[in-house]
Amino acid sequence: MYTVHIDDPGDARLADYVSLRDVQLRTSLEAEHGLFLAEGEKVIRRAVEAGYEVRSFLMAPKWLDTLADVLETAGDVPCYVAPESVVEQVTGFHVHRGALASLCRTPMPALESVLEHAERVVILEDLVDHTNVGAAFRSAAALGWDAVLLSPRCADPLYRRSIKVSMGSVFTVPYTRIEHWYDGPGTVRAAGFEVFALTPAADAVDLAEVEAPRRMALLVGTEGEGLSQRWIREADQRVRIPMWSGVESLNVAAATAVACYALRR
Ligand SMILES: C[S@@+](CC[C@H](N)C(=O)[O-])C[C@H]1O[C@@H](n2cnc3c(N)ncnc32)[C@H](O)[C@@H]1O
Repeated sequence: MYTVHIDDPGDARLADYVSLRDVQLRTSLEAEHGLFLAEGEKVIRRAVEAGYEVRSFLMAPKWLDTLADVLETAGDVPCYVAPESVVEQVTGFHVHRGALASLCRTPMPALESVLEHAERVVILEDLVDHTNVGAAFRSAAALGWDAVLLSPRCADPLYRRSIKVSMGSVFTVPYTRIEHWYDGPGTVRAAGFEVFALTPAADAVDLAEVEAPRRMALLVGTEGEGLSQRWIREADQRVRIPMWSGVESLNVAAATAVACYALRR
């Protein structure tokens, strides 16, 4: 690692870090350059420990000591050091956790390799909110589930917000995207999993009454509409978390946490 002091927020070397609040811009920029951003000491540390290659760091001078060991292991990459006001102008907000890193994405693993030794798999259908994606990963990791699968249109687990909410679980829980939405549940069943659709529908089976098989996949639906009819039809069973007080459904991340706990090994 070598340090580069920067005072100009317009410096082109900081291109990886511009306008972090602009989801659209970030999504295309990150995909185009095959990068993602980690924010905060813990998350950066976990990303580097997970083996992701670092492109660069950006931080205010006071973070250099705290992250000294991580900077040392990152190889011959620049650490841009800038006053907090400059970091704020580049990123578009005050970086509370002080440090940022830009890292290289790796190719997604094949579905077969993710499923090979797994017994408990969460499958997210078209979640749009990065916070919910991150929270689902965190629950899956914390409650002992083995992998997460994403429908083709599901939001990106390596988006900064997802990573942050997952507390770095997106670096440790194996995941990949299902290539064809239509056959998603069928493909997983063919690999030896019983497929459960998590739905608030009144005629679904109460989660407390489910006997969990050795290998199971849990389908979880998008924030507004819930699971598609296609995926619900494809499931072996539909399961619900009973609701009280006239509430129709839980937030998707909360529902995932409850189900991951109830159906844990
Ligand atoms: C906000 S809910 C969608 C609500 C939608 N109206 C529906 O009927 O599914 C998003 C996802 O969270 C899960 N979910 C939320 N509340 C649930 C409950 N009470 N029982 C089972 N799953 C639930 C389901 O997977 C659902 O697709």
